[in-house]
Amino acid sequence: MRPEEAGPPEIEEALAEVPPPPPGFLEALEIGGIRLKSRLVMAPMAGYTNLPFRRLVSARGAGMVATEMVSSQALVRRHPKTLALMRTEAGERPVSVQLFGADPAMMGEAAAIVEETGADVIDLNCGCPVKKITKTEAGSALLCDPDRAGEVVSAMVRSVRGPVTVKMRTGWDTVGTRQAERFAKAVEGAGAAAITVHGRTRHAMFGGAVDLEAIGRVKRAVSIPVLGNGSILTPGDAMRMIERTGVDGLMIGRGAIGNPWIFSRLIHWFRTGELPSPPSLAERRAVALAHLQGLQDELGQRPGVLHARKHLAAYTKGMRGGAAFRERVNRLDTLAEVVRAVETFFHEAEREAAVGGERRPDAA
Ligand SMILES: Cc1cc2nc3c(=O)[nH]c(=O)nc-3n(C[C@H](O)[C@H](O)[C@H](O)COP(=O)(O)O)c2cc1C
Repeated sequence: MRPEEAGPPEIEEALAEVPPPPPGFLEALEIGGIRLKSRLVMAPMAGYTNLPFRRLVSARGAGMVATEMVSSQALVRRHPKTLALMRTEAGERPVSVQLFGADPAMMGEAAAIVEETGADVIDLNCGCPVKKITKTEAGSALLCDPDRAGEVVSAMVRSVRGPVTVKMRTGWDTVGTRQAERFAKAVEGAGAAAITVHGRTRHAMFGGAVDLEAIGRVKRAVSIPVLGNGSILTPGDAMRMIERTGVDGLMIGRGAIGNPWIFSRLIHWFRTGELPSPPSLAERRAVALAHLQGLQDELGQRPGVLHARKHLAAYTKGMRGGAAFRERVNRLDTLAEVVRAVETFFHEAEREAAVGGERRPDAA
């Protein structure tokens, strides 16, 4: 799945084979003294995980939410747009703010600023594959320099009272070189309180199979909590990740776009062994409208409407008439018009469903 294909998962496809839930996954998990609401954590996603989206997933069982990555350099210069990215609210806690950068002193300074804003956890990005970031030695470039990553983590840990965590990939371009284990041990030694491993190399970007073996090797190499990440969409995916790696928690990214229920549905499965039915059309409509309102409040009219387009595409993915709806929405300029279009689309779908037609999403 590429970022541009982000959308709700075809989770229903796996319904016939819902495996028995893994034992122990409902037990509490703490990261550096911060108790998570569940072991399913929302992934940081640039351009997606702003406050209105985090609010929705947090209310639906995400154990912790994360901001998108924030530039340490922009932060120490107190860039207003950067400060806005970090605005959090009490209801979404615990919340993690993710920083990128590779200069230990600057990262320490930035971490202290982040902590002042009320973040519970501060995360270091060691996974971003984008050239603009890696050419400054930050993001996934840090995977090639565990000593430097350790220095960055140490500087952050020294500057804050709360936990510092690390989000990494399995390596730069090859696996099986023990690069991931060496890296994980270096950041653990420097004081990281937990590690998330996205089971792909930098080279693999966002495609191809998730390397569960490499995640498992990292888990066994350290004694701090490890979260597994990468293409978790169904109970089967969750089960494979947990059983084959032994991770303490899961991080979910694209599977939650247009689909904030993924958390509550997987938690229900952990509890009962059954996956609940997908949310009703009325529920989908209510959440899409609440999301729109949140975007308007947070971003204002024009940026809110533009930002809403990709989420509305995800909320209506796979629904009959969805393509025409998206085309229409992409031409609308005001929130009031978009709200009307959403209401009309879903009411029509609800009417069709009531008379036995099908306009249900393929996914839930
Ligand atoms: C649009 C998009 C933006 C992302 N932005 C970030 C980011 O800011 N920081 C980060 O650590 N990872 C980022 N990621 C990676 C995700 O956190 C996650 O590791 C990856 O998508 C694999 O998980 P998934 O298959 O559950 O989505 C991003 C991914 C996508 C698709």
